[in-house]
Amino acid sequence: MAVHADLKLVRHGEDGVDLAFRADVLRGLAEPQKAIPARWLYDPAGSALFERITDLPEYYPTRTETALLERCGPAIADAVGPGRAVVEFGSGSSVKTPLLLREVKPAAYVPIDISAAFLHQASAALAARFPDLPILPVEADFTKPVRLPELVAGHAMLGFFPGSTIGNMVPRTAVDLLRSMRETLGEGARLVIGIDRVKDITRLLAAYDDREGVTARFNRNLLERINRELGGDIPVARFRHVARWNPVWSRIEMHLQATADLRFTVAGRPFAMREGETIHTENSHKYTAGQARFLLQAGGWTPATQWTDPQEDFLIMLADASEHRSAP
Ligand code: AVJ
Repeated sequence: MAVHADLKLVRHGEDGVDLAFRADVLRGLAEPQKAIPARWLYDPAGSALFERITDLPEYYPTRTETALLERCGPAIADAVGPGRAVVEFGSGSSVKTPLLLREVKPAAYVPIDISAAFLHQASAALAARFPDLPILPVEADFTKPVRLPELVAGHAMLGFFPGSTIGNMVPRTAVDLLRSMRETLGEGARLVIGIDRVKDITRLLAAYDDREGVTARFNRNLLERINRELGGDIPVARFRHVARWNPVWSRIEMHLQATADLRFTVAGRPFAMREGETIHTENSHKYTAGQARFLLQAGGWTPATQWTDPQEDFLIMLADASEHRSAP
């Protein structure tokens, strides 16, 4: 197994702080609409809370996509044929991966993730289930083009990007990512991508503001993480979790709203917030089937087939790397 374990992607300051995290937080809190990139929600505590979210009755995406993948797996396998190298972007704990791998009979599996810990854990689990499958983990930031291991260079590629992670990006960034995946995977590649659909807004809001308050804890954990890792004194209890539907961008937004006028410091810098002011922490864009096809096209992929569940909540799309040149 080619494990790039000694590649260090996270830079730490002398005091051990993650410098990118500190820079994003200090910049984001200084903006008129305070905002912190959603990727920082996923420290070990946040990832554990997200796992709990996926089991909540209100949170339909995970169970819907899993059931859909079980149903359309054989059709995907028929369409793509055996012997491709499956490349998964942001593989995380790779829970949905076996559903694809067991059907498509791949020549190799290349999980790409920024977290070495996740990669090794997931690779070990998959190696046990698929003992004959070469697994070649790559520790990298998948938002940029990634150099794939030499061993898969000769194979046709099948990209795998489940979880509606694409929904976390604004369309412009989503298009950049799709183009970069097209670059990573090369000519003749295909892509299986999961996308969450526009639906009844009350259901969407419930999915991001559950009765048990797990999503609220997931959101507030970001403030706890800031206090813990960046030496902050943010009064976490003075923030309320808010999920909002933004109709212009067709997305659910998560915010942390101050319930009083507040002052606090992070890494020695002072910040003030007015009662009602928010910190924007995540976007989750929802697409119609037509918008999803257009997004793929804009990113250099030609939609081939799409599958949806009976409730039409979620989409799995199969697409082909578009020719660089096409007829006018
Ligand atoms: C992991 C990004 C797909 O947007 O639905 C769940 C994250 N945030 N509840 C999503 C999330 C709040 C989730 N994704």
